[in-house]
Amino acid sequence: MATSGDAIRHLWTHKTQDHPWLPDEELVIDRAEGVWVWTERGKKLLDGFAGLAVVNVGHGRREIAEAIAEQTVRLAYYPTTRQFSNRPAAELAAKLAALTPGDLEYSFFAVSGAEANERAMQMARHYWLASGKPTKHKVISLEGGYHGGTTGTFAVCGLPHLVAPYADLHVPGFAKITPPYPFRDRGRGTDEELVQRRARELRQAIVAEGPETVSAVIMEPVISSGGFIMPPIGWLRAVRAICDELDVLMIADEVITGFGRTGRWFACEHDGIVPDLMTVAKGITSGYIPLSAAIARRRLADAFPDDAKQENVHPGTYAAHPVACAAALANIQIMEKDNLVANAAAMGARLLDGLQQAVGKKRIVGEVRGRGLMVCAELVAPDGSGRPLDKELVAKLDRKAWDRGAIVYARGQVVRLAPPLCITPAEVDQLGDIVAASIGELEGELR
Ligand SMILES: Cc1ncc(COP(=O)(O)O)c(C=O)c1O
Repeated sequence: MATSGDAIRHLWTHKTQDHPWLPDEELVIDRAEGVWVWTERGKKLLDGFAGLAVVNVGHGRREIAEAIAEQTVRLAYYPTTRQFSNRPAAELAAKLAALTPGDLEYSFFAVSGAEANERAMQMARHYWLASGKPTKHKVISLEGGYHGGTTGTFAVCGLPHLVAPYADLHVPGFAKITPPYPFRDRGRGTDEELVQRRARELRQAIVAEGPETVSAVIMEPVISSGGFIMPPIGWLRAVRAICDELDVLMIADEVITGFGRTGRWFACEHDGIVPDLMTVAKGITSGYIPLSAAIARRRLADAFPDDAKQENVHPGTYAAHPVACAAALANIQIMEKDNLVANAAAMGARLLDGLQQAVGKKRIVGEVRGRGLMVCAELVAPDGSGRPLDKELVAKLDRKAWDRGAIVYARGQVVRLAPPLCITPAEVDQLGDIVAASIGELEGELR
């Protein structure tokens, strides 16, 4: 039986939509396998955005379903408060300690990406309290940055239209700095000069705040919601150096970029740096069940003795949920067995190259860029001014790609692609062709 539009309208998320593009009933997703999804009405589509850049291993993996079923029957739930633990949680924490760079070794599990970021900021705060530096509390972030939809993460959100309604609830005065955005800001200089300029501004911002009041800097290695902005390699290294110099913690939000998305297990690896805290979600279970983590370096954990009798960050009911952790272990096993990180690097390069060749020189394409399987085309006005193309026009690409058999994510001035990491060369080419044809059609309409 088909889902009725009347029933769908009881979903809060459907009460208001920012750019309605098809009747609700057309957009009921019913089943999925690999990189493909089917709507309830039977339309087959290539999932060019892996849901929300989540389903890294692809849809319909039985191994994860079985791990979930087995763990649910064995132990569906027990808290990790009052010293309790469970095997999947402990094994996953140990696995993450091995997979993540450097001495990121202590995982605080949570449910969503937003919560992981809240926890990371809390862990940073407790670290400073434990280190005898109680005035360090501010968190500096990036314009365009997105760290979740909760009130706490909105305090460090760099997308003003999202946070405006909550301004009165926020801790005032958390500074936002501009990230290096080569396409818009490189000018006649080099990427390296741009990185240095933005790094100087970050340093000045921390100094202006007073380093003795700054707890942490939080940033995404690729600014995802803000427009798939890809700072040059070297940026994170520059941030790391400033944080070290001024005794400020660095939090890398790898909620999207983690677990192979950029062609490395974690995007920080491109820069060869180790943040003090790393947050992960999405790809940790490929979305089969929600889970996230804030992962801390040894030195942070060492600030709290093993025999401490006082709680620091207060855990939630679902912290280290055994079923979610079992799903994550099965998910990571698939990633390793199927070499999905290497596949993301290879397929990402193929998608980027194909798209650059197909549309790179079009009048309405300013830039095609990518890092692993995060690839996008930034669209500009057809008049040669370089101005961003009107977002209502860009949004038309969602429908144009849909009609051709793919789901993409067109927002602001950017059409984004982040398919499952298991994508094959033939599927990559199909996705690239669909996007190129959609952009071609849009350009034709603007003549
Ligand atoms: C970089 C980044 N951080 C945090 C979040 C928030 O994650 P969640 O929606 O699971 O709270 C997102 C969501 O898209 C994200 O892209």
